Amino acid sequence: MAKPKLFGISGSLRADSCNSKLIREAARLFGDCSFAEADLRFSLYDGDEEATSGVPENVKAVERQIAEADAVVISTTEYNKGPSGVLKNALDWISRCEGNCWAGKPVAVMSAAAGRAGGERAQLILRSFMVPFRPRILQGPEIHVANCSNEFDEQGQLKGEIYVKELGQLMQQLRAEIPG
Ligand SMILES: Cc1cc2nc3c(=O)[nH]c(=O)nc-3n(C[C@H](O)[C@H](O)[C@H](O)COP(=O)(O)O)c2cc1C
Repeated sequence: MAKPKLFGISGSLRADSCNSKLIREAARLFGDCSFAEADLRFSLYDGDEEATSGVPENVKAVERQIAEADAVVISTTEYNKGPSGVLKNALDWISRCEGNCWAGKPVAVMSAAAGRAGGERAQLILRSFMVPFRPRILQGPEIHVANCSNEFDEQGQLKGEIYVKELGQLMQQLRAEIPG
């Protein structure tokens, strides 16, 4: 049987992003799979650009990756108590593609941030952003990695046993959502 396709979306563009590390850890704990990450370096959504040139090719490429994935993990950073503009911009552009790549898709949402709540509020807002797209979002365990710059080792692996345990549980649930 082909390996399940897991697609990761990080809400941060930073090379050393904790959220990018977190989706890679999610992929490791998901187990045997083919994993790819989104490149969200899209232009800012502009209705005039869409009207004259259509949906950009790099948006369509990510939309296709979502559509073809068996499951998706999204991790958001927290900027001023909300998800990053990069992530919201990406969700808006993707929603302009034909069809709905998210419909019924198994999705795990998580967050990593510098603050002591680990982006919990941003994650809650991200969950509400996803409602119009009707994915199958797992309810938990909720993963919000606090003080995130100190929570990953040199190899990018999570240091805290509790995070590893709960992220592992979340990933096994995500795997179980994939029709067999
Ligand atoms: C504009 C801005 C706003 C931020 N606001 C918050 C915040 O509300 N809560 C928080 O925990 N961290 C906040 N931070 C710190 C980020 O959580 C931290 O930089 C985090 O590492 C960014 O995620 P990344 O490592 O994936 O890039 C903010 C950072 C920036 C640049």
